[in-house]
Amino acid sequence: MKITYYAHSCFLVETASARLLIDPFLTDNPLAVIKAVDVRCDYILVSHGHEDHTGDALAIAKANNATLIANYEIAEYFGAKGAKTHGMNPGGAHVFPFGRVKLTLAHHTSSINAGLNPLYMGVPCGLLIESDGKRLYHAGDTALFLDMQLIGRGGLDVAFLPIGDNFTMGPEDAVEALDFLKPRIAVPMHYDTWPAIAQKPERFAEAAGARGHRVHVLRPGEVLAV
Ligand code: NI
Ligand code: MN
Repeated sequence: MKITYYAHSCFLVETASARLLIDPFLTDNPLAVIKAVDVRCDYILVSHGHEDHTGDALAIAKANNATLIANYEIAEYFGAKGAKTHGMNPGGAHVFPFGRVKLTLAHHTSSINAGLNPLYMGVPCGLLIESDGKRLYHAGDTALFLDMQLIGRGGLDVAFLPIGDNFTMGPEDAVEALDFLKPRIAVPMHYDTWPAIAQKPERFAEAAGARGHRVHVLRPGEVLAV
């Protein structure tokens, strides 16, 4: 399995049978290394409604005839705009041709077009993906929460965790999250995109390493094989 970091919380996961794009945010992302029109995928998984996770979801879904997987409200919203969608909700799992996806809890908010008239987009979620015998957890945007212990049951190969602080948990809480999740490899995300979430991922890696956790920091465009 090949995982490419597209900056912020966006990853391309290439399984044996499908290309999964998570939280597409490229066009307005100052750190993006690929244009939305150049992305090829079969599925798009979206953790919550905020534009830094859904910004390019509709255009990429339409251009690729990809199925957008998200909570019910987000699936209905993009479905009404012409995307092929599959709605779910936290605690629910579904087996797709490439493997199983379960939506998990996340503690955050989930609106779109935030401003005077934000549309509320259901609850924020994390994504638990099982494919090719690997288990991946993309935490979405979230605070640290004790129930992460439940998500780690059964073992995790990779956990993608936000470390940016301000909008999500910061590096200290992300280290505690690793104590609950115990993944084989942790990959930090949701940092450095804007000044408010500037972080030193190497410091997070060191702090996590001191607690016995392995962190793999990916630069935008870098690939991790698992
Ligand atoms: Ni968010
Ligand atoms: Mn975000």
